[in-house]
Amino acid sequence: MHKVLVVDDDKVLQESVKQALEFHHFIVEVADNGREAVNAVLRQKYDLVVMDVNMPEMTGIEALVEIKKHDPSIIVLILTAYSNVGDAVKAVKEGAYNYLEKPIQSDNLVALIKRALKARSLVETSAFSAPKLSLGGESSDSFVGESHEMKKVFNIIYKLAQVNTPVLIRGESGTGKELVAKAIHYNGPRKDGKFVTINLAAIPDTLIESELFGHEKGAFTGASERKIGKFQYADGGTIFLDEIGDVGPQMQVKLLRVLQERSFTPVGSNRTVNVDVRVIAASHKHFEEMIKVGTFREDLFYRLNVLPVYLPPLRERISDISHLVDYYIKYFNNVHNLSIKGVSPDAMKAMTDYAWPGNIRELRNVIEHAFIVEYTDYIGLMSLPETLRKNIKGHLAADPNSDTERDNSEMIDLDGIKNSVLDREDGTNTSGINTGDAKFTFTIKNRSTEVSMDFQVAKDIFEKEFIIQALMMNKGKINQTALKANIPKKTLLRKIEKYEINPKEYY
Ligand SMILES: Nc1ncnc2c1ncn2[C@@H]1O[C@H](COP(=O)(O)OP(=O)(O)OP(=O)(O)O)[C@@H](O)[C@H]1O
Ligand SMILES: [Mg+2]
Repeated sequence: MHKVLVVDDDKVLQESVKQALEFHHFIVEVADNGREAVNAVLRQKYDLVVMDVNMPEMTGIEALVEIKKHDPSIIVLILTAYSNVGDAVKAVKEGAYNYLEKPIQSDNLVALIKRALKARSLVETSAFSAPKLSLGGESSDSFVGESHEMKKVFNIIYKLAQVNTPVLIRGESGTGKELVAKAIHYNGPRKDGKFVTINLAAIPDTLIESELFGHEKGAFTGASERKIGKFQYADGGTIFLDEIGDVGPQMQVKLLRVLQERSFTPVGSNRTVNVDVRVIAASHKHFEEMIKVGTFREDLFYRLNVLPVYLPPLRERISDISHLVDYYIKYFNNVHNLSIKGVSPDAMKAMTDYAWPGNIRELRNVIEHAFIVEYTDYIGLMSLPETLRKNIKGHLAADPNSDTERDNSEMIDLDGIKNSVLDREDGTNTSGINTGDAKFTFTIKNRSTEVSMDFQVAKDIFEKEFIIQALMMNKGKINQTALKANIPKKTLLRKIEKYEINPKEYY
């Protein structure tokens, strides 16, 4: 029999939950607040804790954190007031299995508890060794993450890979949801089957059904051939339903049916097709809110959310930033055949201070951008985009001896460069200093060039080289180069004309 601890400062509620659970043959003990709950868990083993949030002494969320530290295998269900979904979301992030809104329906509570216990028994039968995650044969991607938060995620992935239940992966954009889905597929028994991705936000509603389930010839205008849908294509493997939070109500019903019955009907057909497909879904959406306002079906949510995975945003696992930076430096050194050695301390500070709204995808782009701009062996502050440098500027501006700030504004302001170049064009040397024939070595992408010791000339050469490099890396495409190199398109075109560069040479 399973042992449950019911924690609530409201004695009436505590007693009614206790009775309902005892009626279903659970062994129930009670605690009046978070502190008592933590003490009880330290004293003895419980399978499950059902806990209120607002309690004296220690809140349910605080107690949850302590309980999970002591025994991560305890299932915690949170009881919240209707208006406090925010608390519930926080609780799920801290490792609660799920939450129920008050007033509690005892049937719902018992059903949720049974589902939670079943989910746990599934993962407990699988191995507990440290996960080594593979991402499929051809993928050059790896999983990076040394933080406590990511280690937790790796463990969940590894366990999920061994079972067949649906998975819902939640997290902000760029946190690695697709990577997690692949890891679950490629580390389990389906790894030799297909991994089929469909982005439900990218397909018009009218086409989703036929994309997922296929159609018969003539099923609708334009259906000139019979077509197999993604579910059938993924038979024996995994289907990754990306952005599931974006599908409309009719598709939600159809997806629920496939999950329940493992079968579907192609558009315009009366055949039922049976499939053996594992469903992994992902979304950055706030399902709790959507369920509340009726835009997402609660039953579909619970079907998918049997074993949830939550990917924390990068700003909540700052210790991973340096590992990711190292990883991407190695990666891009390889891709571009370069040998960047690392990141300067001020650039690293800018990166750890930054909030990373685009998460790991954004970090990857920042490093790739820095590879194009940087011409030394270390990525410096100047090679980071303005958004990141902004954070640190304040500190540097306060320090009149700081060189970095000065260099910064001079190097990055391309229009500034333009003006200085124009000065030089009419023959004047703005510095007024005769630099004679002094030379210094200018290294761009490992190519050394000796140039005159004249700041304007050096800038000119750098600018031209920079644009050529950027065009080469972007196969001569103007829009892409402008975007990747962070140069306004107009400016780029002006420079191309000025330096008589022929972008077609780099196609
Ligand atoms: N832990 C990680 N280690 C290394 N690379 C990662 C990690 N997580 C994500 N990435 C990389 O970050 C990029 C974004 O990841 P992914 O596409 O999986 O994010 P997502 O959550 O699906 O984003 P979106 O919501 O925008 O679709 C990819 O290039 C992926 O390889
Ligand atoms: Mg994605």
